[in-house]
Parts: sequence; C-alpha cells; structure tokens
Amino acid sequence: MSLPSPDAQALVLSRALSQRIAEDIAQQGGWIGFDAFMHRVLYEPGLGYYAGPMRKFGAQGDFVTAPELSPLFAQCLAVQVSQWFGQTEPVVVEFGAGSGRLAAGMLDALHELGTPVRSYLIVEVSASLRERQRETIAQLAPDRIGVVQWLDALPAQIDGVVIGNELLDAMPVRVFEIDAGVLHEVGVSIAEDGSFAWAVRKADRALSEAVKDTLGESLNDGFGEATDPVFRMPGRYRSEIGLQGRAWVETVGRALHHGAILLIDYGFSAREYYHPQRDQGTLVAHFRHRVHTDPFYLPGLQDVTAHVDFSAIARAGAAAGLDLLGYTSQSRWLINCGLLDRLAALTLPAQAGDPGVAVAIEAARTVGAAQTLLSEAEMGELFKVIAFGRGLTDDALGFGRGDRRGTL
Ligand SMILES: C[S@@+](CC[C@H](N)C(=O)[O-])C[C@H]1O[C@@H](n2cnc3c(N)ncnc32)[C@H](O)[C@@H]1O
Repeated sequence: MSLPSPDAQALVLSRALSQRIAEDIAQQGGWIGFDAFMHRVLYEPGLGYYAGPMRKFGAQGDFVTAPELSPLFAQCLAVQVSQWFGQTEPVVVEFGAGSGRLAAGMLDALHELGTPVRSYLIVEVSASLRERQRETIAQLAPDRIGVVQWLDALPAQIDGVVIGNELLDAMPVRVFEIDAGVLHEVGVSIAEDGSFAWAVRKADRALSEAVKDTLGESLNDGFGEATDPVFRMPGRYRSEIGLQGRAWVETVGRALHHGAILLIDYGFSAREYYHPQRDQGTLVAHFRHRVHTDPFYLPGLQDVTAHVDFSAIARAGAAAGLDLLGYTSQSRWLINCGLLDRLAALTLPAQAGDPGVAVAIEAARTVGAAQTLLSEAEMGELFKVIAFGRGLTDDALGFGRGDRRGTL
C-alpha cells in the first residue's frame, strides 16, 4: 500500500524518536517487547503519537472517533450518565479525552437533561491534548468550563461515573506467537539495514500464564478438547494480549467507591478475538485515514492500536469486585439511549430558500453521521459498550434491549 508522505518537520521528529528507541533496544541487548515499543511510539514525551504536536483526530488527522463524527454520540452518552446521576454523585471522570469534544457535548447535554455535572475531571496522559481539550471546551461549552479540571493521576477514590471512549485500544499490548506447539513473545529488534524488525524470543512465565488463561477461557470447537489449548493451536498463530488494559480496569475499578465505569471500543469476546482463523491478531496502524499492518512505519507519526478482548475486561472488573451492568454493540446501545428519537426530531426546513437549504444540508450530515455510528459495516457492530457498577441498580438504560453479557 502506498502511504502519503509526511512533511519535513514531522520526519525530523520521527527520526529522533526512532533513534531513541534504537538506542534503548541496543542497551537492552538487542530486543524489547512490543508493549515497550508501542508505549514509546505513542507516549514518548514530545515525540510519541499522542504526546507530540501533530493533529490526530478528525478530517485533518489519521482517524475519526465517534465524538468527532457527531454530537449525537455525546448526547446519547449523557442520557445514560444522567440515569446514573440519580444514584451517584454528579461527577464524571473521563480518561483519554481526545480533542475534548465528548466532554463539551456531555457538559451541555447533561445540563439540558436537568442533571448538570458538578465536577468533570479529565485524566489525560498527553500534554498537547490537554491544551487542545481546554480550547475545545472553552469554544463549545464556555459556560461550563468552570467545572472542568485536569488531573495528573488517577483519583484515589471515585464517586461518580468514569468514561473512556477508545481508551483501551490505545494501551500497549504484548504480542505472542505459537509455532509448532511453542509459545514465543514477539518483540522488536534492529535489522541489518537499521530498521525496526519483528523478533521472537521464548515467552516468560507471566506471558505464558496469561496466554494460557486467555485462550483457555475462549476454548471453542476450533481448538478441540485440549487440556492445554495453547499448544494445540493449528499452524502458526500470532495475536496480542492487552495486559495493561486489564490492569487499568482493575486499578480504576478498585478506586471506584460508588458509581459506574462505561467503556466504548472496538473489540469482541475472547471467543471471537482468539478464534483460530484470526491468526494474525488485530494489531493495526492508522496513518492519514489509511489502515495498514506495519507498526514500524514512521514511529510517532501514526497511531498503533489493537482491538479489545472484552471477556478479559469483564474478568478484570470482576476481580475488582465490580458488577457487570451490561455489554452490547454500539448501535444497540445508542438506540437504547434514544438516538433514533433524536434523529426523528430533527427539524427539516418548511420552505425552500438559502437558510432552508443550509438546514437541510446540516440535517443530511447528521443522518450520515448517525448511519456511520449505527451501521454494521462501519462502527455499529465492531464497537462495543461495556459497563460496570458499584452500588448501582442493574437497570442501565443503554443495555435495556440486546444485552450480551452472557457471551463474554
Ligand atoms: C484513540 S484516543 C481516543 C480519544 C477520545 N476519547 C476520542 O474518542 O476521540 C486514545 C486516548 O487515550 C489516551 N490515553 C491512553 N492511555 C491513557 C491512560 N492510561 N490514562 C489516560 N489517558 C490515556 C491517549 O492519550 C488518547 O487521548
């Protein structure tokens, strides 16, 4: 696939980051795990994809997320959060707030629903994104920015609602390969021409245990009735495992004193994730709206991401003592939260003329965006929504119909 060329300034940053990672690999004896590589290309201060100055989300960036597509997404999320505000503190803690559009939309929508936010806390690892979030909220929800605060670390105790849209997919993963019955960890080394290259080494005990647990849970007909399914994988099998995402859910889950956690992301249950036919895993890179499979291309200038194993996320929530409140597709959840009613209520122009045409164009845009959010071929089915609670009733609106908890 031919990819667009970045400008000279971006290339200088990418080369600087590559140089640092290469030095690290040399110091570590010629190999680092893929999770370490992914962490650096995404989060290296000043140079990593999320930590650098480049535009990431939206038309001028590399990919588009749901809050960027349409304000309907934030409005539907607000309907769910508003229900929970009846049972917990009116506090939102958003992790990885991107451009800040979701925060701005939620602040307004929750106000309009009569359940205003008392405190909207954002935990963001990227300094450049914090600045962008502040600008977006000041522009789109100027009357509400007073309740927004940026935190440097996870609060010790949370009473309220935690949200994370496309957060878990941005957390580093370990890559493994099973070949002829042997489990290896796939990491990164330096090839003779100086470029980054995949390299395997024997898996350590922690990875071995994690892979066995994960694949054992997802044992399906494809693996037969093996007692140790890992070693019965057909042919050469490569995939990845999101241990950091699980640890995050456990940590935040333990900090949640009373309230809910709602996470939206692309992914599936372990059965689908680790299906024998998905033998190359789900790791991909996004560069200027193209999706490809080379994570070593222009370090720091492209997004690198993996899908989420929601079965593992559900187990992590249970380990933290949380109740699983629901799991369903994004389309089902948005419909449950009233997206179709909002579309039906769109006002169309009563008569022709320039202002009428402008309204009609806006309405068509809204319908187009809703179609992308809902369509099975786009975000509707691949994206899932999972929610956990502590001390809440088990009747979350977003999962009223089509709850798939039983499939995890
Ligand atoms: C794919 S972006 C999604 C941004 C935004 N939520 C949206 O939907 O447009 C992932 C975001 O998660 C942030 N992130 C990753 N790990 C994080 C962590 N441990 N704590 C807080 N934010 C994190 C990144 O900096 C980035 O802003």
